[in-house]
Amino acid sequence: MDSTIKNPRHVAVIMDGNGRWATKRGLPRVQGHRAGVLALREIVKHSRKIGLEYLTLYAFSTENWKRPPQEIKNLMNLLVEYLKSEINDLKANNVSIRILGDISPLHAAVITQLNKAVEETAANNGLILCVAINYGGRDEIIRAVKGIVRDINAGKACIEDIDHSFFEGYLDTKGIPHPDLVIRPSGEFRISNFLLWQIAYSELWFSNCYWPDFTARMFEKALEDYAKRDRRYGGVNSVD
Ligand code: IPE
Ligand code: IPE
Ligand code: MG
Repeated sequence: MDSTIKNPRHVAVIMDGNGRWATKRGLPRVQGHRAGVLALREIVKHSRKIGLEYLTLYAFSTENWKRPPQEIKNLMNLLVEYLKSEINDLKANNVSIRILGDISPLHAAVITQLNKAVEETAANNGLILCVAINYGGRDEIIRAVKGIVRDINAGKACIEDIDHSFFEGYLDTKGIPHPDLVIRPSGEFRISNFLLWQIAYSELWFSNCYWPDFTARMFEKALEDYAKRDRRYGGVNSVD
């Protein structure tokens, strides 16, 4: 079997372990988040290089509001800083930004920056970079259900319309294929409310390394491992 042809179209990454990376070095957690942004840059660059179609990054979950207010502020500031400093580069490299999650509760300045990044890269047709902010799989599903009920009440849809593909039209990931591969570093073996609907048949790849230590080489290793996986989707192998 030629594994080189088994490239994923969509890779989703749970960027975890920034805090522990910093603590291990006697640094404040925010330094871990800063270092995490450098790893993120590297992985976006590598994704472009290999011609990946979709890269989704989990940046802030609906549960991350439980953190101290200063840490939340730091994370939001870093996000705005990242977008401001990278936007020209992303534009020049044909990257298109999409946001997953409900950004309405975020600070106005953050919303403005996110919308700007989406608008200014909307026409690009290279890598689609999905950033999950205030994202939770359960929240996304609830918002989708509300959207469907709203449309049914308005007479724009009926119960008989509801099937998998109709439902997906109400998710934040509308039009985006399901992730083929989910990468979670940091030594945790859980999904933490990430893309619950979409990862039903995704391949999962875990690593003990903290996100700031994650490199393009590790990304390549995950892709190599992915290429060896046998995705059966509940069926049987043709050679069995
Ligand atoms: C991931 O790193 C960043 C976000 C959740 C936004 P963490 O901050 O969760 O780092 P750990 O898991 O505490 O080490
Ligand atoms: C998942 O990491 C969320 C993001 C990376 C944005 P967490 O650190 O929030 O997850 P748990 O708390 O370990 O499950
Ligand atoms: Mg964590």
